[in-house]
Amino acid sequence: MRRLLLVVVAFLPTWTSAIPVSGSQMMVAVPSRYAVDTAEAIIKKGGNVVDVAVAMGFTLAVTSPYFASLGGGGFAVVHHNNKTQAIDFRETAPSKASSNLFANSKDSEIGGKAVATPGIVAGYYEMHRLLGKLPWKVLLEDSIRLAEKGFKVSGEWVDFYDIADAKLDASARKYLNAGDRKLKPGDYLKQPQLARALRQIQKDKARGFYHGPVAEDLVSSVASSGGVLSLEDLKSYQVRFRDPLVQDFLGYKLYLMPPPSSGGVLVKTALSLAEELNLKDLKPLSVDELHLWGEILSRAFSDRNRLGDPDFGKNPLDEIFSKDHLKTLAASIDLRKAKTFKPAPISSKESLETTHLSILDKNGNAVSMTITLNGVHGSGVFSRKFGIALNNEMDDFMTAAGRANQFGLVQGDANKIEPNKRPLSSMTPTLVEKDGKIVLAIGAPGGPRIISAVIQAMYRILANGYDVDLAIQIPRVHHQNVPNTLYLDPKRFSPEIVEGLKARGHVVEDKSTLARVYAVHWNDHKKVLEAAFDSRGEGAAGGF
Ligand code: DON
Repeated sequence: MRRLLLVVVAFLPTWTSAIPVSGSQMMVAVPSRYAVDTAEAIIKKGGNVVDVAVAMGFTLAVTSPYFASLGGGGFAVVHHNNKTQAIDFRETAPSKASSNLFANSKDSEIGGKAVATPGIVAGYYEMHRLLGKLPWKVLLEDSIRLAEKGFKVSGEWVDFYDIADAKLDASARKYLNAGDRKLKPGDYLKQPQLARALRQIQKDKARGFYHGPVAEDLVSSVASSGGVLSLEDLKSYQVRFRDPLVQDFLGYKLYLMPPPSSGGVLVKTALSLAEELNLKDLKPLSVDELHLWGEILSRAFSDRNRLGDPDFGKNPLDEIFSKDHLKTLAASIDLRKAKTFKPAPISSKESLETTHLSILDKNGNAVSMTITLNGVHGSGVFSRKFGIALNNEMDDFMTAAGRANQFGLVQGDANKIEPNKRPLSSMTPTLVEKDGKIVLAIGAPGGPRIISAVIQAMYRILANGYDVDLAIQIPRVHHQNVPNTLYLDPKRFSPEIVEGLKARGHVVEDKSTLARVYAVHWNDHKKVLEAAFDSRGEGAAGGF
């Protein structure tokens, strides 16, 4: 018997499960195992990439409400039925909002005034109405079950509770604690009140959220916390379908999120500069290359505060993408020395309250979707009856001239608060096409660091030929022009590299992580779909 056991052990594979995780039908890379379970259930039922995205979105609203609650918003770049569209379900400023509400800068981060009109449920509904295949009600089954029967909270869940603890209102405490006790990793949490909201949405579709008892609960909860969200704001919320920005890069075609996200615009500029400066000739992760990344990102970010919601003013995209402008930016970069563009002593840190889902099938149908509440558990306001966490997306506007927001971004006039306007975002859901077929779905949470993380991870795959997992895990840098700081991934660079970058004149900081990337890639050599998530946070990959 003992001998037999030894023989069996000897024949077991010596490797652990492969990362990236491979499949041949449809694969997903997402922030939680629960979302992967939902994806696999929907795929088995014959769902398409949009069904999978929407169903995972609802599951995450239950299991990861700190960044995926129904009280948030987001963007998706979707390729389906031979068409690529950018779907904008970003929150909007309530009709009674104005910069007068934000004399105290903390009011755009905490409490009712910070809350913008949520867009997530409308976004999921419209995506499914136009592109989904399975019946709507099937997409909510998993989330309702998890809310009613409970799910096991993760270490990340507990960490995020602790981060938000000070700002959480009484309803949040009631629904996220077990009586007087805080939950520990591994404890089960049931949310019957949230299940009731989900059932309402399952029955009445988007109306179940934007009209009736759920809407009334949202409005009265925000009002009791000093906010101005109205029933009219909810009823009149509109999803926007936009043409993605397109960029050719090394034989690939990129589909990028246009304004009101700054993500696509900055990716386009940065990759154009990378080509202009022949970045590909430099050794990946050498001091030379990282120095140039910092300078390229800083130049790309210098255009960010000219952007805003395209429904409220024309963005100067022709000028930003003009050859002259690119040449001027490129000419300002010196390979030997960091050159300051607009120094300002503003501190910036990453926050962890957005998430991303990447989905790709064997035919090149794909969804790259980033959703957010902005801050962890958003504004800290939870609706009283249904326990829905509400965003603090108002902080993404320019709330006062010259004031830095929670990400250290000092914003421009194009992003000032106006009723029903969408705040400028950094979210960068992206799809990449090769020879007419989508081969990469990629994106990340992480505030402005999203943009630099997506650019670098994508570049490692497309330009350096790295596999998707390596491209995500290896170190990266971030520069957002203001402050004049080169942010480095903590503990991922050797002292020699850090010293080398300082010697080039960079002000270096290496204390907080640089976003978390989720991607699915078609590996054309192996002829498989490969999915990977970032070891900088929790995540899961799966599918078939
Ligand atoms: O739209 C934006 O740019 C921000 N509200 C995103 C916030 C974010 O990614 C926070 N998380 N990790």
